[in-house]
Amino acid sequence: MAICPNCGHTAPHDGPCPRPGGLDAGGSIVLQGRWELVGMLGQGGMGTVYMARDLRLRKRPCVVKKLRDDFYREEDRQKAVAFFEREAGVLSSLEHPNIVHVLDYFEEHYSYYLVMEYVEGNDLADILQERGQPFAEEQVLDWAAQICDVLEYLHQHDPPVIYRDLKPSNIMLDVKGRIKLVDFGIARPIEDGADNTHVVSAGFSPPEQYWGAADPRSDIYALGGTMYFLLTGAEPLPLHVSSPRAGNPAVSAETDAVIRRATAQDAGQRYQTAVEMKQALGARLPAEKPGRRTIPRGELVIAAAIVALSVAALVASEKIYQMLDARSQQIQAGQKAMADQDRQNKELQAKLRAYSRAVEANDAAIREWQEEAVSSKDSGGSPAKPPSHAATAAEASSESQLTDPEGLAPLEEAGSGN
Ligand SMILES: Nc1ncnc2c1ncn2[C@@H]1O[C@H](COP(=O)(O)OP(=O)(O)O)[C@@H](O)[C@H]1O
Ligand SMILES: [Mg+2]
Repeated sequence: MAICPNCGHTAPHDGPCPRPGGLDAGGSIVLQGRWELVGMLGQGGMGTVYMARDLRLRKRPCVVKKLRDDFYREEDRQKAVAFFEREAGVLSSLEHPNIVHVLDYFEEHYSYYLVMEYVEGNDLADILQERGQPFAEEQVLDWAAQICDVLEYLHQHDPPVIYRDLKPSNIMLDVKGRIKLVDFGIARPIEDGADNTHVVSAGFSPPEQYWGAADPRSDIYALGGTMYFLLTGAEPLPLHVSSPRAGNPAVSAETDAVIRRATAQDAGQRYQTAVEMKQALGARLPAEKPGRRTIPRGELVIAAAIVALSVAALVASEKIYQMLDARSQQIQAGQKAMADQDRQNKELQAKLRAYSRAVEANDAAIREWQEEAVSSKDSGGSPAKPPSHAATAAEASSESQLTDPEGLAPLEEAGSGN
């Protein structure tokens, strides 16, 4: 296709480029007074990709993609424009770390442009070509997991977005090792027929896409073909189940089985969702990198159970502490009651001893007095008075204290709590 290297115009000019000071003249083209084109990055089937700078944001690097404008039929041009506007609208509503960020889209001088962030890196097709040998399985599994995440996001978007053109040249790898999908099909060949989106990339597109019936499982098929390509270095055969082990025996049987199922010709036999495919890859995935880890449902359940058990344990331990506290208060009260009873017993014993001493002294005094009385009677004298100390000894001990049954009753009650 003819392309003007000066302005990127895909329709041939009659004579010199009408844009003075264009790219090949060392000058620049500024679109919308903001986006300055500084060089051509590549030219694809339906558009041209330019390296650009954002004049409003300190000349931050960005990329401008220009929709081809050389449609032979006006009808095709109109379809292409309508398709561009629809896709550009959807794209600008997408926000995902693995999808190139769209900054603007507009029409200028009858040409249509999409402006997006510049991905510092290269696409997987170019990287593979440069290294000249297939990638290690672990590496491909890591990228495939990232692609499953982004497909899940697209398929669950409202409205669902079917990527339709997953292949190594549309998958970029940035300098941080992160996958970025570019090329959201804003510029697709418009073919006659009821569905003007049935675009195919031989080898990567599933059978149903040939008649324009793409659905999420079509992207699963293309991911299987992409993995095959990255693991073998060979393009997948169109309309075939892909088995990378046939081309590269180093590929494990498990990964081979996942790719075969993803590229089943009947969509009903494939993984039905990107989540399902990621789970199938799961056992063989390398350790997740920090920052983009999705927590498996099983781990979430275990974590929730641990939290619930910890809360229950806290509540239970609180109750146990309350019980222990009450029990220790009971024990202390019992010990105090026993000590009180002991002290009262000792006081009582001391009083008993004093009482019995007083009784003995009194008895002795009475005996003495009786003997004196008998001897004085025998001798004819008056009887002696009873000794005063005998009465004093009897008074020393209160009878009420010795015989009162109430004296012990309170002590027994106090000790009953043990
Ligand atoms: N945002 C971007 N940043 C850096 N390079 C890009 C960007 N978008 C596309 N490219 C490069 O340009 C190539 C073609 O872009 P793409 O959108 O796939 O257009 P085409 O319709 O021609 O396939 C890509 O394979 C990639 O190497
Ligand atoms: Mg492309």
